[in-house]
Amino acid sequence: MAGSKFLDNLIAGSSDQIQDVRQHIEMAAPYPVNVLAVGPTGSGKELIAKGIHKLSGRKGNFVAVNSAAIPSELLEAELFGYEKGSFTGADKARKGKVEEAADGTLFLDEIGDMPFSLQAKLLRVLETKTVQKIGSEKSTPVDFRLVCATHTDIGDLARQGKFRADLLYRIAVYTIENPPLAERTEDLEELITVLSLRLKKTEKKILPARFDPEAMGFLRAYSWPGNIRELANFLQKCSVLFSGQTLGIDKIKPLMPNFETGEGSEIAQASLWDDVGSIAMNDIPVSAGGSFQEKHDFASYFARNQPLNLNQFLSEIEEKLITTALDYANGSVEKAAQNLGLTQEALLEKIKFYAVMNRSFQSKPRN
Ligand SMILES: Nc1ncnc2c1ncn2[C@@H]1O[C@H](COP(=O)(O)OP(=O)(O)OP(=O)(O)O)[C@@H](O)[C@H]1O
Ligand SMILES: [Mg+2]
Repeated sequence: MAGSKFLDNLIAGSSDQIQDVRQHIEMAAPYPVNVLAVGPTGSGKELIAKGIHKLSGRKGNFVAVNSAAIPSELLEAELFGYEKGSFTGADKARKGKVEEAADGTLFLDEIGDMPFSLQAKLLRVLETKTVQKIGSEKSTPVDFRLVCATHTDIGDLARQGKFRADLLYRIAVYTIENPPLAERTEDLEELITVLSLRLKKTEKKILPARFDPEAMGFLRAYSWPGNIRELANFLQKCSVLFSGQTLGIDKIKPLMPNFETGEGSEIAQASLWDDVGSIAMNDIPVSAGGSFQEKHDFASYFARNQPLNLNQFLSEIEEKLITTALDYANGSVEKAAQNLGLTQEALLEKIKFYAVMNRSFQSKPRN
């Protein structure tokens, strides 16, 4: 099929589940049906929407709106646009995202988070195929393809009365389910290859890390709650710390924040990252409970526009952990290496590295 190559490049993986996803995209794309992509966070729902847009042959734009990321009072203006003077601050008229998607595709991410009142307005747009700016009497015809995504069970929300059932039927004419990575770990190696190539293109100064067979087995056994986004972040972290190296279990284990190694490990991991949080990003709020991503409010950090130097941040973490491990072991490299899951040689190499970079180690290694 014509779209296959494009889709194979866009959505990597050879598992039956991911082949099904690609097949559904190809089947639904040519028809003007509304598609709902369902799946856990980071599993690639936006890629489904992009695939549908590309294969639909529509010439207009692909326009994405995340209902969860925009405050509900602004979402209406964002979607439908507004006339000049329609509310305080509306000093000139603006087109909404619906109109921007004319002849293209509108992707509504996290549709389950759309406020109930706005759901009625969206339903009206879908039924009348026209859009009305806030503060305008005029309806403008719009022709757009709608793809929505959700990570929550939207049918359940409808049963609880939190999502309009009539809207649900409209948006979910064709539902595509994106499987979690943990259910298709046979795709892991291929995904790592694809993500490594991407990393090479975006990060000129680092080489992607690789994993030895034992480490691959370890990665396959992990649950990947953040799915492919988590895998991409993990690969980046490994590559920053160990550029171009082939890593074994000892190197990757400490880098996996969510790894379930037994009782108490999550708590230990959380307090470790609390410490980490206070090293370089001491104004990032860290709340208790939840996943690693939830505990660390990185989004609000970035929202305040403070650039983060990732390389520096990660090396500060490494230096801090090494210093602490040496202190704890009274300067014994052997014991510190054990506590860090490193070989003595690897630890000495790192100590040398940081010493060369003129960073002060409080402890003097003894052996
Ligand atoms: N099969 C895949 N092949 C290559 N990259 C993928 C694949 N699936 C996801 N990705 C990448 O993983 C990241 C997350 O994907 P995406 O944003 O589509 O997920 P999502 O399901 O929309 O997540 P969220 O629920 O958090 O919005 C993106 O960088 C995307 O390019
Ligand atoms: Mg998304």
